[in-house]
Amino acid sequence: MKKLLHIIATPREDESRTLQVSNTFLKALKEKHPDLTIEELNLFKEELPSLTLKRVDGKYILLGGKDLSGEFKEAWEEIISHIERFLSADAYLLSVPMWNFGIPYKLKHYIDIIIQPKYLFRYTEKGPEGLVKGKKMAVVTSRGGDYSAGGMRQYDTQEPYLRAIFGFVGITDIIFINAQPMDMGPELQKEKIEEAQAIARKTAESF
Ligand SMILES: Cc1cc2nc3c(=O)[nH]c(=O)nc-3n(C[C@H](O)[C@H](O)[C@H](O)COP(=O)(O)O)c2cc1C
Repeated sequence: MKKLLHIIATPREDESRTLQVSNTFLKALKEKHPDLTIEELNLFKEELPSLTLKRVDGKYILLGGKDLSGEFKEAWEEIISHIERFLSADAYLLSVPMWNFGIPYKLKHYIDIIIQPKYLFRYTEKGPEGLVKGKKMAVVTSRGGDYSAGGMRQYDTQEPYLRAIFGFVGITDIIFINAQPMDMGPELQKEKIEEAQAIARKTAESF
């Protein structure tokens, strides 16, 4: 493992509970792999290309099995550079708070940009095939409530969605560290962050 891409999907910087857990993970990982390069992609700081008509048309050209050329190729330059940046990593850390039972819109935007036919998946006679092979992903989430059991579990669309979309492109080695509940009192919050940090340290040892 040479390079890890840390994808940040919270705008809360130093106030972020998710990042408290992620930072513990990264510190432990760096101790184990001193030569590891950690590249940060903060989705609330970097501007992502919007999916205009021309860019979406490009996706349909690729879905039709053709290559992009001319104005479509030009329109896709920024998308390709995000795809290349994503693929240049050997492993991923996603820092994702739960927003409305799912993921923050900036992460959905990023997913809509990088999950592209020909680059991250392709269709074969046997069905779709993920092209991102042999890479690991750790996902740190934090949630205001607790979705680990009981009636609340059904509302968690965050973990199932991230497992589905990254599994679809071939990243099936995914571990989740969920800090929850975060918004039900400061004592419980502290306890659950520490619990998640302990899991993060353990996860880093075998990552
Ligand atoms: C826009 C928004 C939507 C949220 N939606 C939910 C939600 O659906 N369920 C939940 O349990 N917490 C929700 N929360 C609370 C956050 O998940 C929680 O406070 C989390 O710890 C924030 O992580 P951060 O400090 O890393 O940004 C929401 C917070 C925001 C700002």
